[in-house]
Formats: sequence, structure tokens, C-alpha cells
Amino acid sequence: KRPAGAPDKSLAKPVTKVGVVGAGLMASQLSLVFARQLKVPVVMTDIDQARVDKGVGYVHAEVDKLLAKKRISPDAANRTKALVTGSVSKEAFADADFVIEAVFEELQVKKDVFAELEEIVSEDCILATNTSSLSVTEMAKDLKHPERLVGFHFFNPVAVMPLLEIVRAPKTSDAVLATAFETAKALRKNAVLVKDAAAFVVNRVLLRLMGVVAEAFDQGTDARTADTALKPMGLPMTPFTLLAMVGVPVALHVSESLHAAFGDRFWVSQNQQRLIDAGKKGIWEIGEDGKPFVPQDTLDLLE
Ligand code: 3HC
Repeated sequence: KRPAGAPDKSLAKPVTKVGVVGAGLMASQLSLVFARQLKVPVVMTDIDQARVDKGVGYVHAEVDKLLAKKRISPDAANRTKALVTGSVSKEAFADADFVIEAVFEELQVKKDVFAELEEIVSEDCILATNTSSLSVTEMAKDLKHPERLVGFHFFNPVAVMPLLEIVRAPKTSDAVLATAFETAKALRKNAVLVKDAAAFVVNRVLLRLMGVVAEAFDQGTDARTADTALKPMGLPMTPFTLLAMVGVPVALHVSESLHAAFGDRFWVSQNQQRLIDAGKKGIWEIGEDGKPFVPQDTLDLLE
């Protein structure tokens, strides 16, 4: 059944090569899912070789974990690894037909990326943004071809979370939207079309919950108590663990967007700002059991 708002799939174009701008954690997770499910070449770019190598290394390590768990065949593992390459130059996207950005969550940074991309990619290459909260309409405004931009918002951890929010900006074409939905299907994600409103749907709901917990920390409840108190609510992860996994800067940016749009209904946490000021770009660390955890020094900072 066609998802609500999805144009006829006959309008969709095949995706034969994917570009991923950024080689951070989200970008690396995206690259893995694209290579594994679409079985097409995926090239990641970042500002220096070390970051690119780290991103590609992450993909290879995740494939090895899947192989160890027998979730992927040895052939598919080798193929997936070979499909993911890295480059420090966006020229590598010249023959891509779908380029998604997962760079810093700031409007101007993303606009600059797209302006640069338009000088490189082919006329009909689709541009997608994995923004968590920013306006896709604003991002499209100065593009030469605004009809090619679409929001394609994944959730962390990308390999596991089934949902994908697809965001249509006013000028996004039916062909681009149809390709986005067909790509989502090939990625085995459940795509829903959402309005281009601050933080779309899921983050708007999620950040209410996380914001209330953050407000409790900021007002003196210690982090662990506030977090543990919510455990019996049937959440798959407590808000504080989720914050650790999503990363403080992303969470803070999303709350700022929501605060700008809806005022005091959304809390902008001073404690989260303190973490960032203390040089903690993200607080997600992975334990030996492969699960995210919050290191003690981070807990100390928050208490
Ligand atoms: N990367 C890859 N795979 C992971 C993973 C990760 N970070 N974390 C868990 N997994 C895999 C495990 O390997 C396991 O796979 P397997 O069955 O093949 O062994 C499977 O997920 C289930 O993991 P576990 O049994 O260890 O743990 P859980 O049953 O607790 O599930 C979870 C883990 C799916 C992450 C669950 O805790 C959950 O749903 N948490 C909430 C996540 C969430 O809300 N995400 C949205 C965040 S908001 C966002 O991303 C938007 C952004 O814009 C801010």
C-alpha cells in the first residue's frame, strides 16, 4: 500500500550511487544502511582524511559485528564493505544520484554544503538532508534547483530504528518525493510524510519528554534519580541514556529550534550547554558490551 502522501512510484528514479556528506556517527550509520540494503556504491566525505577513515572504519567494524552474529553472509559482508569508500573531496559525488548530508545541525552550515554540492552534482541528482529539526524550506531557498531537495530524517540507531520521516518542502518535485519513498522502501524503513515544521513529528514529541527531564536536572534533581524514576514507564531507553546516544549538541540544537518555534513549552538545558562548554561534543560512549553508556565524568558534570 502506498504511504499517505507518496506520489505514484512510477515517477521514482533508480538510485545507483549514494553520496554521504559527513563521516560522523550518524553519517557512518547511514552509509552502512545504504550500502547494505541498496547494494550500490556509497561514498562518504568529510573535511580531513582522519575523519573519513574513522567513518569507513566504523562501517567495516559494524559489518564485522553483523558477521560475527551471523546476521549477514560472508559474501554480503565483503560486498557491503567494498561498496563503502571515503574521500576528502565532494568531487566524488559527480556521478551520484542521491546525496544526503549529515553534517552539523546548523542552518547556514547545511546551506553552504548544498550550495557547494550544486556546483558538483549532476542536474537530476537528489539532495537530501538528515536534519533533526531545521527548516527544509529554508535550506531549499537559495538552491538553483530547489525541487531536488527533500528531508530524509533517520533515527538513532539507524540500523535498528524502522521509522524514517520524509519532509516535503514547497518546491520538492513529485519525482524526487517518489524516489525518496522508493529508496526508503529499499532501505526497509517505514517512511511517513511529515510537514516541514520545527523538529517534524517525532522529535517534537520526544523533546517534550527529554526537556522535562532536563528541566528537572537543571532545577536540582540529580541526573540518575530523574532518569531512574522514569524506568518503569516502559520506555525502551531512559531519557538520559537516549540523550547520551543521540548526543548533547544534537539534542540541544533540537530543543533550541523547538524553543524558538513554541517558546517555553520546550526547555533549553543549561546543563547540556555546560557539557558542550566542557568540551564534550557527544556523551555517547560504547561499552564493551556494545551498548551506549554515560561515562562517570559526564555524570559528575551533570550532578
Ligand atoms: N547500533 C547498531 N545496532 C544496535 C545499536 C547500535 N547503536 N544498539 C542496539 N543495536 C542492535 C543490537 O545489536 C540488537 O541487534 P541483534 O538483535 O541483531 O543482536 C538490537 O539492536 C536490539 O538491541 P538490544 O537487545 O541490545 O537492546 P534493546 O532491546 O534495548 O534495543 C534499542 C536497543 C533498539 C536501541 C532500544 O533501546 C530503543 O529503541 N531505544 C530508543 C531509541 C530511540 O528512541 N531512538 C530515537 C532517538 S531520536 C533520533 O535519533 C532523532 C535525532 O534527530 C535526534
